[in-house]
Amino acid sequence: MIVTTPQKPTPEQTEYARGLAEELGARFVPRKQDSLLLLKAKHEDVRLLVADDRGLRYYEDSEAPLYFHPSMAYVRVKRMRKGEGDPLIAVTGCQPGDTVVDCTAGLGSDSIVFAYAVGPEGSVTALESERVLYTVVREGLRTYRTQHEDVNEALRRIAMRLTDHLDYLKRLPDKSVDIVYFDPMFRQPVHDSSALSPLRALANGAALGEASIREALRVARKCVALKEHADSGEFERLGFESRHRNKIAYGVIIKA
Ligand SMILES: C[S@@+](CC[C@H](N)C(=O)[O-])C[C@H]1O[C@@H](n2cnc3c(N)ncnc32)[C@H](O)[C@@H]1O
Repeated sequence: MIVTTPQKPTPEQTEYARGLAEELGARFVPRKQDSLLLLKAKHEDVRLLVADDRGLRYYEDSEAPLYFHPSMAYVRVKRMRKGEGDPLIAVTGCQPGDTVVDCTAGLGSDSIVFAYAVGPEGSVTALESERVLYTVVREGLRTYRTQHEDVNEALRRIAMRLTDHLDYLKRLPDKSVDIVYFDPMFRQPVHDSSALSPLRALANGAALGEASIREALRVARKCVALKEHADSGEFERLGFESRHRNKIAYGVIIKA
C-alpha cells in the first residue's frame, strides 16, 4: 500500500502521512504534482491512502474511495434530537450513562448513534478487525466536524480498537458492560445498500460465531443485540428473538 499527501502539502500533512504509512506498514511516497492514477502506476500498487484536508481516502480498484462520513448516523441523530427515537436505541433500551461495546465498527454509524444516546456519562467502544478500515474510521471520528457540537462530542467519545471481537470479549469480566452489539456483514448482501459498497471489499465477512454470542452474553448486563437480514436465518441460528420484520431487522437477547 502507498500513503501520500495532497499536492503541495504542509510540513504537518507530510508528517501525518508518514506516520500513517508507518502505522500501516505501507510506503510513504511524496505526491509532487502526480495524479493518483499516475502514482498507482509508478509504484505498481493499486492500494492507495491519501491523507488530505478532507480526511483519509482509501482507493483500491474502484473509483469510489472509502472515507469516513457520519452520513446516516447524522440523519438518525437529528431525528433523535427531535424526539423521534431510533429503532436500534429502542430495541436495546439504551439509556444515558450506558456502556456499549459495538463489536463490528464498520464505518461507525451505529456507534455514533449509541454515543449520542449514552451521552457524556456513557461510553462506546467500537471494535474493528480490519486495519485499513480501523485507521480510516478512527481518524474520521477523531477529526470530522459537523455543524453540531453535540454530534462532534459523540464522535470523539467513541474509542476504536483494532481487534477481533471474540478476542476482545474474552478479556472482559462478567457483566462489565451494559450492551453488546453485532452488525456483521450480511450473509445475503442487500444490493441497494450503496453506502456500504466501498466497505465490502475491505471488511471481514466471516459469519458471526456462537462463541462470540456466548462471550457477549457473559459480559452484558442489559442485552446483546444483532442486526441482520430478516430472512437470513442468523437470528434463529444464534438464539435471537427478532423484533422488527423489516428487510433489515434487529434481534435482541435481554439479560435478566
Ligand atoms: C456491516 S459492517 C458494520 C457497519 C456498522 N454497524 C456501521 O454502522 O457503519 C461490519 C464490520 O464489522 C467488521 N467485523 C466483522 N467481523 C469482525 C470481528 N470478528 N471482529 C471485529 N470486527 C469485525 C467488518 O470488518 C466490518 O467493518
